[in-house]
Amino acid sequence: MSLANIFDNLKVIYHLVKPNKGKTHQERLENFYKEQAQYYDAFRKTLLKGREDLFESLVTDAEGIWIDMGGGTGANFECIAKQLNKFQKIYIVDLSTSLLEIAQQRIAKNKWNNVETIERDVTQFVPLEGAADVVTFSYSLSMMENWFEIIDRAYQLLKPGGVIGVVDFYVSRKHPEPDFVSHSWLTRNFWTIWFATDNVFLSPDRLAYLHYRFDKVTRIEKMAKLSFPPGFKAPYYLFIGRKN
Ligand SMILES: C[S@@+](CC[C@H](N)C(=O)[O-])C[C@H]1O[C@@H](n2cnc3c(N)ncnc32)[C@H](O)[C@@H]1O
Repeated sequence: MSLANIFDNLKVIYHLVKPNKGKTHQERLENFYKEQAQYYDAFRKTLLKGREDLFESLVTDAEGIWIDMGGGTGANFECIAKQLNKFQKIYIVDLSTSLLEIAQQRIAKNKWNNVETIERDVTQFVPLEGAADVVTFSYSLSMMENWFEIIDRAYQLLKPGGVIGVVDFYVSRKHPEPDFVSHSWLTRNFWTIWFATDNVFLSPDRLAYLHYRFDKVTRIEKMAKLSFPPGFKAPYYLFIGRKN
C-alpha cells in the first residue's frame, strides 16, 4: 500500500470515529459521507463483504426494474456491468448528495444509459415504470431508521415473484431459531456498540423479519475479516427472498 493510500485510509478512519452530528437523518448522513465520498469505494472494498456475491447471484435470472435502496456510489453494479443492458431501468436511491455525485460520474463514465440516481429517502420513492423485479439493500438497511417500514415498502414495490437481496452487518438473537447462527454475548454487544458510533444500528430482528416477509431463497451468515479495526471479524448476512 502506498503512502498516499495510507493517508486516504486515515482520513476515512477519522470520519468513522469522530462524532457524527446533524438535526435530520439526511444531515447526519451527509455530514458523515461528504468528506470521505472520494475515498469511499476504495476503503469499503475490503470492509463490506458479500456485496459482489449478492449482485452476481441476483443478476442471472433478473431483468426489468432494479431498485438499489441506499445505493450510494453505485459501485456494486461494476461487478455485473456486462449484464446491465438487459434491465429496463436501474434506480440508485440514496439521501447522500456526495455519494450520489460519485454514482453519477460512474454512470457517465460507463455510459449506463438505463441507470438513474434519485436523491430521496427510500420511503418516498416509487418507480414510474411500475412494480420492481429486484430490490437490494447493500449495507444500507442497518443505517435506515424505520427498517421495518422500509422492508414492508420493498415488499409493496416488488411485483409478485420479485426478489429482495440484502447484505449487511448484524448480530444474532440471544436465542436464535435452530438453523440460524448464534453469536456470543461479547459479539452481540461489542459490535452493536461499535457500529452505533457511525449510526449503523445492528438489530437481531432484521433477518428474522426478512424471513417472515419473504420466501427464503438464500441465507448466508458469516464473519467478515475487517480492514478496520484491523484483524477483527464482524458478523454479516446475505439474504435473498422472493415475494410470494
Ligand atoms: C454503508 S452505505 C452503503 C452504500 C452502498 N449500498 C454500498 O454497498 O456501498 C449506506 C447508504 O445508505 C444510505 N441511506 C441511509 N438511510 C437512507 C434513507 N432513509 N434513504 C436513502 N438512503 C439512505 C446512505 O446515504 C448510504 O449511502
